[in-house]
Amino acid sequence: MTKLFKQLPTHIAIIMDGNGRWATKRGMPRNYGHREGVKAIERTIEACLKYNIKYCTFFAFSTENWKRSKEEIDGIFELLREYISKNDNIFIEKQVKLRHIGEIEPFPDDLKACLVDIEKKTEDFDKLTITFALNYGGRNEIVRAINKLLQNGNKSIDEQVFLSQLDTKGLPEPDFVIRTSGEQRVSNFMLYQMAYSEFYFPKICWPSFNEKHFVKSLREFEKRKRRYGGV
Ligand code: IPE
Ligand code: IPE
Ligand code: MG
Repeated sequence: MTKLFKQLPTHIAIIMDGNGRWATKRGMPRNYGHREGVKAIERTIEACLKYNIKYCTFFAFSTENWKRSKEEIDGIFELLREYISKNDNIFIEKQVKLRHIGEIEPFPDDLKACLVDIEKKTEDFDKLTITFALNYGGRNEIVRAINKLLQNGNKSIDEQVFLSQLDTKGLPEPDFVIRTSGEQRVSNFMLYQMAYSEFYFPKICWPSFNEKHFVKSLREFEKRKRRYGGV
């Protein structure tokens, strides 16, 4: 399968947007859109395995998403709980490593426990690494990293040392960022890591995203010429 592509991204980062609009358009509550969005995550993970993508990161909850109603936030937490317990064995069977970026400290205790547990169980796998960005904000991540460096008594650092304090430590930079729903903005996602990412903004809302859209995205990436400042 991989042979069919001239180049494939190593790390795809997805800003899953449009769940609410997708549901509203169908006369359904916003949380129904999030529920259908989880199915799109499952389809995307299957597609990553099929097309041999090694890293995929999903922006699931931003530091700004606390502005939403308690009902919506609790609904998202509940979906996360269900998702992890339902897929627990699947991650192990398929050798998928699960991790998170962002500060999960303010999350409900049982949800934090579930996350820590699945991360521990899958930490040695390397077939595919799935990262969930949870209570994640690029600015927050950078400031936390600087504070850790200051607390360690650093006076001057280089880029490698800085990278080692980011939540994304150990992950390659995302070479391909997909944002669904037609919005063309970054919304505080991986600000430092996106320095040389290729961007793609399909109009489709996240709950509709399927293997066909995934392949279309890979075809788009295939066409990109990456120069990194060279000629
Ligand atoms: C993305 O969909 C999911 C999260 C931010 C949790 P939205 O909920 O932002 O959907 P829209 O943008 O309101 O349609
Ligand atoms: C970005 O989507 C955050 C996630 C996908 C989790 P938002 O819907 O929160 O972003 P804005 O508010 O449209 O910029
Ligand atoms: Mg949105």
